[in-house]
Amino acid sequence: MIASLASEPQVQIVTSRYAETYAAWQRDPEAYWAQAAEDIHWFKRWDRVLDSSRAPFYRWFPGGSVNTCYNALDRHVEAGRGAQAALIYDSPITRVIRSFTYAELLNQVKLFAGALKAQGVTKGDRVIIYMPAVPEAVIAMLACARIGAIHSVVFGGFAPRELAIRLDDCTPKLIVSASCGIEPTRTIPYKPLLDEAIEIAAHKPQGVIVLQRPQVKATLLPGRDHDWDELMARARPAECVPVAATDPLYILYTSGSTGKPKGVVRDNAGHMVGLKWSMHGVYDMKPGDVFWAASDVGWVVGHSYIVYAPLLHGCTTILFEGKPVGTPDAGVFWRVIEQHKVAALFTAPTSFRAIRREDPNGEFIRKYDLSNFRTLFLAGERADPDTVRWAEEQVKKPVIDHWWQTETAWAIAANCMGLGMLPVKHGSPTKAVPGYDVRVFDPAGQEVERGESGAIVVKLPLPPAAMLTLWNNDTGYISSYMQEYPGWYKTGDAGMQDADGYLYIMSRTDDVFNVAGHRLSTGSIEEVLAGHPAVAECAAIGVRDEMKGQVPIGFVVLKAGVDRSEAEVRNELVQRVRDQIGAVASFKTALVVKQLPKTRSGKILRGTMRRIADGEPWPMPATIEDPSVLDAITQSLAAEGYGKR
Ligand code: COA
Ligand code: AMP
Repeated sequence: MIASLASEPQVQIVTSRYAETYAAWQRDPEAYWAQAAEDIHWFKRWDRVLDSSRAPFYRWFPGGSVNTCYNALDRHVEAGRGAQAALIYDSPITRVIRSFTYAELLNQVKLFAGALKAQGVTKGDRVIIYMPAVPEAVIAMLACARIGAIHSVVFGGFAPRELAIRLDDCTPKLIVSASCGIEPTRTIPYKPLLDEAIEIAAHKPQGVIVLQRPQVKATLLPGRDHDWDELMARARPAECVPVAATDPLYILYTSGSTGKPKGVVRDNAGHMVGLKWSMHGVYDMKPGDVFWAASDVGWVVGHSYIVYAPLLHGCTTILFEGKPVGTPDAGVFWRVIEQHKVAALFTAPTSFRAIRREDPNGEFIRKYDLSNFRTLFLAGERADPDTVRWAEEQVKKPVIDHWWQTETAWAIAANCMGLGMLPVKHGSPTKAVPGYDVRVFDPAGQEVERGESGAIVVKLPLPPAAMLTLWNNDTGYISSYMQEYPGWYKTGDAGMQDADGYLYIMSRTDDVFNVAGHRLSTGSIEEVLAGHPAVAECAAIGVRDEMKGQVPIGFVVLKAGVDRSEAEVRNELVQRVRDQIGAVASFKTALVVKQLPKTRSGKILRGTMRRIADGEPWPMPATIEDPSVLDAITQSLAAEGYGKR
């Protein structure tokens, strides 16, 4: 297929193999994935490519036996890649840069796997990793994979209550943590947060391993807590444990409609097959290239594209502990790209909005040599055309929006650079990636005409690497994703597909919002607000924010007889969300209102409130109980500067 882009001078005319590759997958998906599976190392090959006998609980490559750590490390060392950098830790926040070759990383992982074994961790046990972006987090993940333990990484910015919820759900034998995280304005001791979480949780882990960082020394509880360095000093290296292709590799919690996070379960073999394909198909990376996902290991982007995919592909991965601005300046991304010869950067559009605000004319960009840099990939939230255009003009390389979710582990829609670039349409993450049959449905489950909006769904089975189920919650897996449109996976996103098959992902269909590329649920904020003693009722919504994409705001109705100043209650509510969910929620606004707008059946009209706050046109809901409540809400929002855009 010939792709041209008259209006985009930086894009050359290329021949794309996208259409033929997509058609090859459609013709025979199992043959297509069997072929891709040749790219990973099997201790024992699969009996069948796909087991659909318990659909929608699909299993990829049953009968096969693999080890993800073997594929990420040992295999490359055995093939002569031992002296190549596997991981470069670049931490402008601590002014440390440390590089690990494949051989060195393997050695560390073997030792930590031995340390885990010595603590009694065996195949199938869960291990929570609650750490900042330090190499030991990656080492801990790979060490779990090595011995067949199931890791669950919890983002370091989450507060104790969130950690406790995850502890009770996945009941880990052990927690691996660090003494502190470091943010530009403060150092955050993790150990008190961890101790509080263990105190709150019903499940008590058998042990805790703490990496003592030089900035903060954590107090260890004798008998339960262990020092990382001490365990490593006496650890015996552990070899890889073969696991079933279908055994879980990890659980990663993500936000759903309710306050309770969903534990997405990932397998071993399918995960490797999907991610390995994406490294060349989507990102056009070759073994030896340097790949940088500027995210945190606590999010799916970190799992897939800091840790597993680059290492499975024999690339060098960058682990960055810093921010796009302020550590020390808006030139840090370009400094890292130049210094480590990064070929592709993957980040969230919000990073670019932050950089643009500080460096609108790209003066920092021009200070650095970007000659090794080929492509900028954006995901995690909608890439607004204005930001994409600015990035294209400044960076003068292709800027590729792509769309995916924690549930899928890799791109559902992308401009697959390894297949030859298609024309870019700003505002669209391009087309469905081979493996995904994406459609747009109306509420009755009928496909809409091209150009019309609706719920975005994907035909089952999802490709390798997509979730197996939700941890301890097969019923939730069905009810959250599979029930509404039988035979189709409900993505929770709404949007449309144009006449050329380009997708446009516009909003969520559920109560999830996206702050700075992080997915959080309004339900969890509402739970925290509702727990305040003065609050009778509450609602939370995600509203548009110029830099972070969205931020949450809360509305509360006070209990009758509460005689407190509004300002005081508002401050307490903001602090409460910070303490119980984490600063990362960016919850800064709580409004006290007399009533919440509801339908006659009592459903809170969150969608209407969001439209009012975002200054969008909104029809008066036919089922509203009392229209005057919306006038009061409009006034409260206007007083805070919302609704005027
Ligand atoms: N541990 C503890 N606290 C954390 C944290 C962590 N790991 N990560 C963030 N926080 C805190 C921050 O200190 C901040 O606290 P504050 O309210 O006291 O300032 C709050 O959570 C919000 O953090 P953040 O979202 O990083 O906002 P910011 O205003 O400090 O920075 C950006 C704004 C745009 C620079 C930042 O959001 C960013 O780098 N975004 C990119 C996100 C990204 O890469 N996402 C990847 C998904 S693909
Ligand atoms: P997460 O599971 O945290 O990765 O969040 C996934 C959600 O982020 C998706 O369901 C979308 O709502 C949003 N998202 C991710 N990438 C994009 C994108 N490229 N365009 C629009 N929305 C996106």
